Amino acid sequence: MVNSKPTDARTGEVEWFTDPDGLFGNGYYETQVVALSPERTRREVGFLLDHAGLAPGDRVLDIPCGHGRHAVELAQRGIHVTGVDLSQPALARAAAASWEAGVDLRLEQQDTREASLEARFDWAITLFNSLGYGEKTDDRATLRRIASALKPDGALILEESNLEYTARLIEREEHLRDGVYVTDYAYRGVWDQPVYHMHVWNPETRRMQVHVLWWGEDGVMRETLADIRAYSFEELSGLLEDAGLRTVATWGDYDGSALEPESKQVIIKAQLA
Ligand SMILES: C[S@@+](CC[C@H](N)C(=O)[O-])C[C@H]1O[C@@H](n2cnc3c(N)ncnc32)[C@H](O)[C@@H]1O
Repeated sequence: MVNSKPTDARTGEVEWFTDPDGLFGNGYYETQVVALSPERTRREVGFLLDHAGLAPGDRVLDIPCGHGRHAVELAQRGIHVTGVDLSQPALARAAAASWEAGVDLRLEQQDTREASLEARFDWAITLFNSLGYGEKTDDRATLRRIASALKPDGALILEESNLEYTARLIEREEHLRDGVYVTDYAYRGVWDQPVYHMHVWNPETRRMQVHVLWWGEDGVMRETLADIRAYSFEELSGLLEDAGLRTVATWGDYDGSALEPESKQVIIKAQLA
């Protein structure tokens, strides 16, 4: 049988984040959607309007948009949203959610690293740890594509976990095993099924391996491995700069509070340099 999965041109291997059978196939929705509650999404979208400056009538590029949680909420507030993601299951869910909510979304299946986008957006939003899946060169390519989609006075809102906070939480003696830090936890997923997470954090590479084990709607057990790089604020600013974007504002939480070393999140507003 021919393997039709997309592969990395450099290594010829299937990348975990573009693998249709991987976490970002159905797994992301089935294991994460409970944590990504409508209240949480409303709070995040509230920040975009009240603190970042998005306004009804604006054109917003949600990249990657996942299952459209921000896109639908923004469209309900009179914003014109284009969502880009590579995951077909995620885009199908976004389309269904927009239909249910009675709003129009433009959805495009594209790889963010080589996305073809017109420079017509007032805003781009890249939310919820959507960088660090591959190598730095992948993130540079994605940010360059995003920069190319902004109008001259447009801006990107980027949100990632705060490396300092994540490291402080995990790098505790009781989690240390042979030079890496291991933590695990379990919760109930979208079908009320158990979802198990095991995280292996390597402080040297600053990469977190995330092993997820869960049951699908068909009752069959699935498992997947993600491998995500965490960036410091300085590294994120550097990547943005490489893409022709300069940091013009920062926050440490969706409540609009200032960025501090102990902030859980790093939220950056960047404009064309
Ligand atoms: C953590 S989710 C975040 C989605 C959304 N921003 C949210 O807050 O729910 C990351 C998304 O990135 C998408 N993705 C990962 N690599 C991609 C790539 N190279 N091109 C397009 N989408 C990609 C995945 O399919 C997934 O939907």
